[in-house]
Amino acid sequence: MSDLNWQDLSAQVVALLQQSRQRVLTQMQRALTIDEKTSRKDLVTNVDKGNEQFLIQGIRQLDPQAQVLGEEGFGDHVTSTTGRLWIVDPIDGTMNFVKQRDNFAMMIGIYQDGVGQLGFIYDVMKDVLYRGGPQLGGVWANEMQLTAPADLALSDGLIGMSSPLVIHDVAHMQAIVHASAGMRIYGSAGIEMINVMVGKTLGYISHLKPWDFAAGQILLNTLGVQMSTIDGQPLDMLSSNLVLVATKQAQRDILQIEEDDVSL
Ligand code: IPD
Ligand code: CA
Ligand code: CA
Ligand code: CA
Repeated sequence: MSDLNWQDLSAQVVALLQQSRQRVLTQMQRALTIDEKTSRKDLVTNVDKGNEQFLIQGIRQLDPQAQVLGEEGFGDHVTSTTGRLWIVDPIDGTMNFVKQRDNFAMMIGIYQDGVGQLGFIYDVMKDVLYRGGPQLGGVWANEMQLTAPADLALSDGLIGMSSPLVIHDVAHMQAIVHASAGMRIYGSAGIEMINVMVGKTLGYISHLKPWDFAAGQILLNTLGVQMSTIDGQPLDMLSSNLVLVATKQAQRDILQIEEDDVSL
């Protein structure tokens, strides 16, 4: 492990994701094959599946000994975070991909013994690739290094959420929205995390799977933004979590709302 050159690895992952983006853009010119997974709101396309296979094939060449966890099931059956683990979301925001042909991302997170090392979120249609982590000592949007977003209080900024949480008022979501400057819903965890990284929103709350938060956790932590469960606990890297991403101040404000058990 110690002889791994993370700078080189990062450059190789960037090249892989750029190739992958070109393939996806070409496939978008043809009709999509769309299937329902668990419901009519949970879709998967031929592009999600093909792109996961393409990315995992590339990852196996770069890092043959690593475990790979992919949303569409073309990776390994992962039961432990020991060793090096790559976590892949080939198309994040599949509903946006199908309905808008925009606002979707590709994401890769690389962990070593459960600790984040490198993260990548590619906003495909804007052609902006966010990469970074402790192994690079910062976060870049293409060639521009990002600075840490301002540590806003909840009342001073916008918060991203997924719609079911707000509709069903899970974990006092409506009180949190009420206390913020306003709510935004983008339909892609990756795009939501980019918005937090660049300071467009101060946080994001959603039920997420490992491939939805793996890359973002590494990038956001590198910029000093916290990611935890809604109760402020560390995330379980191998299961679903109710994830809270927020500036330090906003995280305190939200945890306080949870504790106070307020209702509107
Ligand atoms: C979904 C999106 C969505 C979030 C869901 C995710 P997918 O990912 O990120 O914004 O609310 O929880 O499952 O399935 O499109 O990769
Ligand atoms: Ca999905
Ligand atoms: Ca996803
Ligand atoms: Ca996906």
